[in-house]
Amino acid sequence: MIASVLPTYNRAPFSFVKGEGSWLIEADGRRFLDLGAGIAVNVLGHANPALTEALTAQAGSLWHTSNLYEIPQQKALADKLVDATFADTVFFTNSGTESCELAVKMARKYWYEKGHPERTEIITFSGSFHGRSSAGIAAAGSEKMTKGFGPLLPGFVHLPFADHEAIAPAITHHTAAIMIEPVQGEGGIIPVPDQCLKGLRDLCDEHGILLILDEVQCGVGRTGKLFAHEWAGIEPDIMMVAKGIGGGFPLGAVLATENAASGMTAGTHGSTYGGNPLGCAVGNAVMDAVNTPEFLDDVNRKAGALRQKLEGLVAAHPDMFESVRGQGLMIGIKCKATNTDIVQAGYDQQVLTVPAADNTIRLLPPLNITDEEIGEAVDRLDKAAASLAA
Ligand SMILES: Cc1ncc(COP(=O)(O)O)c(C=O)c1O
Repeated sequence: MIASVLPTYNRAPFSFVKGEGSWLIEADGRRFLDLGAGIAVNVLGHANPALTEALTAQAGSLWHTSNLYEIPQQKALADKLVDATFADTVFFTNSGTESCELAVKMARKYWYEKGHPERTEIITFSGSFHGRSSAGIAAAGSEKMTKGFGPLLPGFVHLPFADHEAIAPAITHHTAAIMIEPVQGEGGIIPVPDQCLKGLRDLCDEHGILLILDEVQCGVGRTGKLFAHEWAGIEPDIMMVAKGIGGGFPLGAVLATENAASGMTAGTHGSTYGGNPLGCAVGNAVMDAVNTPEFLDDVNRKAGALRQKLEGLVAAHPDMFESVRGQGLMIGIKCKATNTDIVQAGYDQQVLTVPAADNTIRLLPPLNITDEEIGEAVDRLDKAAASLAA
């Protein structure tokens, strides 16, 4: 008999009852050091007092009105994002997948309104992940995500990741945009080198096409900048955001320049819940905490410390691990042992990591993880590796 919850997930046998900062607590009191943070979501840890205060204060006054009316919390958050980024305008969603949907629609509508309805194609890259909707799976294009779900949404051109020579010839008079994650997340924490992001920006400018960055996983302070593309010194035309922006409350956003958003006039897109007062109250509190030089400096400092310790871990267990990669507190450890075995061995040491493609485990801890917790995390991973080797 089918489970009452549709069985699409392979779940670990934990049912956490409480969260405290970087820790998740089981009903029997066992404490797990959470290096997954809900897959890069809980940027300020679990039950963060500022976020709890923002959420409960809002919950006590107004939850939902719909976008039929002005939502001051939404306007405040949009203003913050516009002030802090390349963007001139923001649309709020509830998830990364919805952000992908709008990014695709926005790029196509842009060209339609410019008198080029034939420009509908979006170039994407192997190993990418853009969500599970029809557009999201078609954008990623992998067999794993698309098999059995056809007919797929047309208009995506898939190129091999890091094949620079393939990109320019793939741009035709049907191309609307290039879409890429500055750091591939599900693909195994693979950063796009700065010079490649610059090259993509140049190519887009040369051909007059749009650059869409998917910062759903790598954005909101995760890499040590507010948004990952800032490391490369470039700006996108459209950017997808979710996960960290809500700190655990479902919230996403599409940020865009005025030009890229020019086709999106009243009535062309909408969402019942997107940008609701509860989500935006939390989003404002996340932005207030994360978007300060002190906070981001601290992310970079801690990322350096963690990275150094992890290099030591890899060197100490050459049969288990191959290398460390990533940016900021978005770290992948490429494994020699099977990655899911290492994740499992971590469970036994009460440390939580997340498997990704390319036989990688992901470390995406809360951005406010403490120095002591970083030391504890690596100790536990060390014990996990040793127990697996034994
Ligand atoms: C880069 C990227 N884009 C899009 C998504 C989809 O986001 P969501 O699961 O919130 O729909 C994810 C989720 O993991 C992601 O990592």
